[in-house]
Amino acid sequence: MAKEREKKLFTTLFGSYAAELKLLITTLLLLCTVATFLQFIPSRFTISASDLRFCISRVSTSQTLLNTTTNTNTNTNNLTVTEKLSTVTSTPPPNLPPPPPSPPLVQTEHVTENGIIKRAFNPYGSAAYNFITMGAYRGGLNTFAIIGIASKPLHLYSKPTYECEWISDTDADTNVGVRDPVTTVGYKILPDWGYGRVYTVVIVNCTFPKPLNTDNSGGKLILNAATSGGGDTSLNITDRIEALTEPKNSVDFNIFTSKPKYDYFYCGSSLYGNLNPQRVREWIAYHVKFFGPSSHFVIHDAGGVHEEVYEVLKPWIELGYVTLQDIRDQERFDGYYHNQFMVVNDCLHRYKFMAKWMFFFDVDEYIYVPPKSTIKSVLDSLSEYNQFTIEQMPMNAKLCHSADYGKTYRKWGIEKLVYKDVKKGIRRDRKYAVQPRSLFATGVHMSQNLDGKTTHKTEGRIKYFHYHGTIAQRRESCKMFLNSTATTYDKTPYELDTTLRDLAGVIKKFEQKMIGNKVQKTRL
Ligand SMILES: *[C@@H]1O[C@H](CO)[C@@H](O)[C@H](O)[C@H]1NC(C)=O
Ligand SMILES: *[C@@H]1O[C@H](CO)[C@@H](O)[C@H](O)[C@H]1NC(C)=O
Ligand SMILES: *[C@@H]1O[C@H](CO)[C@@H](O)[C@H](O)[C@H]1NC(C)=O
Ligand SMILES: *[C@@H]1O[C@H](CO)[C@@H](O)[C@H](O)[C@H]1NC(C)=O
Ligand SMILES: *[C@@H]1O[C@H](CO)[C@@H](O)[C@H](O)[C@H]1NC(C)=O
Repeated sequence: MAKEREKKLFTTLFGSYAAELKLLITTLLLLCTVATFLQFIPSRFTISASDLRFCISRVSTSQTLLNTTTNTNTNTNNLTVTEKLSTVTSTPPPNLPPPPPSPPLVQTEHVTENGIIKRAFNPYGSAAYNFITMGAYRGGLNTFAIIGIASKPLHLYSKPTYECEWISDTDADTNVGVRDPVTTVGYKILPDWGYGRVYTVVIVNCTFPKPLNTDNSGGKLILNAATSGGGDTSLNITDRIEALTEPKNSVDFNIFTSKPKYDYFYCGSSLYGNLNPQRVREWIAYHVKFFGPSSHFVIHDAGGVHEEVYEVLKPWIELGYVTLQDIRDQERFDGYYHNQFMVVNDCLHRYKFMAKWMFFFDVDEYIYVPPKSTIKSVLDSLSEYNQFTIEQMPMNAKLCHSADYGKTYRKWGIEKLVYKDVKKGIRRDRKYAVQPRSLFATGVHMSQNLDGKTTHKTEGRIKYFHYHGTIAQRRESCKMFLNSTATTYDKTPYELDTTLRDLAGVIKKFEQKMIGNKVQKTRL
């Protein structure tokens, strides 16, 4: 009975207003199309999520606004989309100001002529963004890198596509906007494959067939990020992202070929948690001494650089050795370990042309080269490689020497933690350094996207001491005191290694010389 009535209602409504309905739908579609199209002249025709929502909401809002005047039927909620639309047609839409955004048109289930229940699926919102940008950098005359994160399932289960577009300012000024923009396929690199969470890191490499903005008249790099049917197979939602703007005369084209400003550049990964300011103080003093005057350190604060940590970095910031980047806002987007893969890639591309060598390691790790060599001599000997990895010396974070008993509180971490894990046959993480101009993307333990050679045979030339578990511990490290050169503790063999302990005095003097007593009062 009800079915019968529904059908009748449908026929009545649809039948009598068929002509008007057709006209209205056509008009609406045409309007939306034209509106969308106008935005993209002279660029290519695409539909972005916001345009789509705008058009949908226009349809549904006019319906909502008008339903009271015509609809007396109690079955309103069971009407299908088409039927709802048909109610719109019964009165001509009045001239109203642009409607406020409203939820998209809801489809409801209905019974088809064959008696089959046609179910409806209504999407609401989107749980992960299509693309979140962190930075976009020019990498040469015709090439750019866009660094960001994107919905991981979108990349894992479908094939979103990227298109890069260059819009020159002069074209716009002189050419009444008809000249075609230059476009190219955006080649995506996923450096944290297998690690991402809600978001995964995406580097889009935009390499155009010809140099752009060479007269320095300005222009814009646009990224068209298309879901290409991932997320909703019926839609190719394309977000148009203004990734980079080059104002007139802003590009220094010499940097791509000239000698880099620094010999050694440190790109730190995301610093997070309740970091021990004393340990950070020791680390930065050690490495400024180690790398010397032609070095620079970029520290990324994901919440770890609290007031006391900032105090120990401040003197080095003032001397120009350290740049602090506040990246706390990335915490809103759930990626692997505070989005560290995005952060190191941003650092790589942002400072690519400022550094001869770039190092990637953590603030509980200390790079070391044997006496008689220097960091310069070692890197010169490795210059044919664009990347090399560095062997780890794992240091125990609680075993100390009994000679220090009672005096450990005043001693530096590298001074008192002297027992090295010498267990054999374990594959340990390595850290690495690169000649950044040859890299397109980077990882945390090494880069897999570079030109040129990589070597792992650096034993005896360079290594790093790793004091795992000390950087976020704000208590005295020494828990056990030993009085031997070799021991087994927790089934792991240890040997006394005083390499860095022996340097502590020199580092302390260096710190005093460079920044005086400014950080003398630092506590654990
Ligand atoms: C449209 O109709 C629905 C249900 O019939 C009602 O809840 C809603 O308030 C109406 N809208 C307006 C703007 O009157
Ligand atoms: C929808 O239709 C069914 C069956 O005809 C009816 O039982 C139900 O009350 C209707 N729902 C609304 C909200 O009118
Ligand atoms: C993009 O990739 C090309 C080809 O692999 C490379 O030559 C270029 O340097 C890359 N661009 C950037 C900015 O990394
Ligand atoms: C989606 O649109 C983009 C351009 O916006 C295009 O490059 C891509 O090929 C389209 N994908 C599909 C599956 O049609
Ligand atoms: C450590 O050993 C040496 C020699 O075996 C001994 O002279 C010294 O007293 C010991 N020190 C402590 C603190 O046990």
